Amino acid sequence: MEIKTVGVVGCGLMGSGIAQICAEAGYSVIVREVNDALLKKGLGKIESFLAKGVEKGKVTPERKAEVLARLQGTTSLEKFAACDIVIEVVVESLQVKHELYQALDGICPAHTLFASNTSSLSITEMAAVTKRADRFVGLHFFNPVPLMKLVEVVRSPLTSPEAFEKAFAFAGSLGKTPIRATDKTGFIVNRLLVPYLLDAVRALEEGVGSVGDIDEGMRLGCGYPMGPFTLLDFVGLDTTYYIANIMFDEFREKRFASPPLLKRMVQAGLHGKKSGKGFYDYSQDPPKPVAGLV
Ligand SMILES: NC(=O)c1ccc[n+]([C@@H]2O[C@H](COP(=O)([O-])OP(=O)(O)OC[C@H]3O[C@@H](n4cnc5c(N)ncnc54)[C@H](O)[C@@H]3O)[C@@H](O)[C@H]2O)c1
Repeated sequence: MEIKTVGVVGCGLMGSGIAQICAEAGYSVIVREVNDALLKKGLGKIESFLAKGVEKGKVTPERKAEVLARLQGTTSLEKFAACDIVIEVVVESLQVKHELYQALDGICPAHTLFASNTSSLSITEMAAVTKRADRFVGLHFFNPVPLMKLVEVVRSPLTSPEAFEKAFAFAGSLGKTPIRATDKTGFIVNRLLVPYLLDAVRALEEGVGSVGDIDEGMRLGCGYPMGPFTLLDFVGLDTTYYIANIMFDEFREKRFASPPLLKRMVQAGLHGKKSGKGFYDYSQDPPKPVAGLV
């Protein structure tokens, strides 16, 4: 069955971006938040992203109105009975996701595909709590969703080839470049990126170089758009720490183990850009490396 209506569960950082690009691609979108205040906030983010586009002359007012008209916000899951695909974008907790999938399984028709945007949880484990494990995939988008081109499309051993190809084509229809991955924690990008970021923290701990010099080294020596500490601050140190722990738990390899400095910074509330301080202090313009970390 053709995908016409998309359900997005969660309108936070990632969910609002995913709902937006689905509406931009012409799909009818139902997006759910847990309460009215969060729904208003999430839809407000989409509205202001499009409004900035209008200000910059990149989006016409008519196009903005057309995209917003395709978006329907709700606080109830019952509306998802009309969806051909449901993308789950709630907090990274297996228990919360399990409860949600069990509820959605009873609401959605048999043909509805389920897709999780999880960064580190097992697609197989989530699929197994539903009666549609063959129609369950991972669709891993990147932050900020409207700007980042990549989507990792993930299959579990239970995903049917038809469901996988449908999800793959759907990701392409959103104007993204999909790549194929199997259900191994971290998929492709985090599998390679997380050990690199953790190694940068270890290099700092060992006194190989300063935050600024290591960042500059990777930017100018490797042509990366930003150094590892700038990227860590952007992703969130708490998020990186959480993903590293899940990956270490899965693979039991040192390269995925969180260095003590990362743990201490998370404990100290130095979560990166979102908390105002991480490896850099964002109260300064331009941000300055934080002194006394090691
Ligand atoms: N932040 C990133 O860079 C990024 C990138 C790729 C994937 N992801 C994944 O996307 C998902 C969402 O992350 P985010 O960054 O948008 O988080 P967020 O904190 O911005 O949003 C979390 C969402 O979960 C909802 N939620 C919280 N508790 C809930 C509950 N008990 N029941 C139902 N809903 C609940 C919130 O209302 C909100 O909509 C996670 O699985 C995360 O791993 C995040």
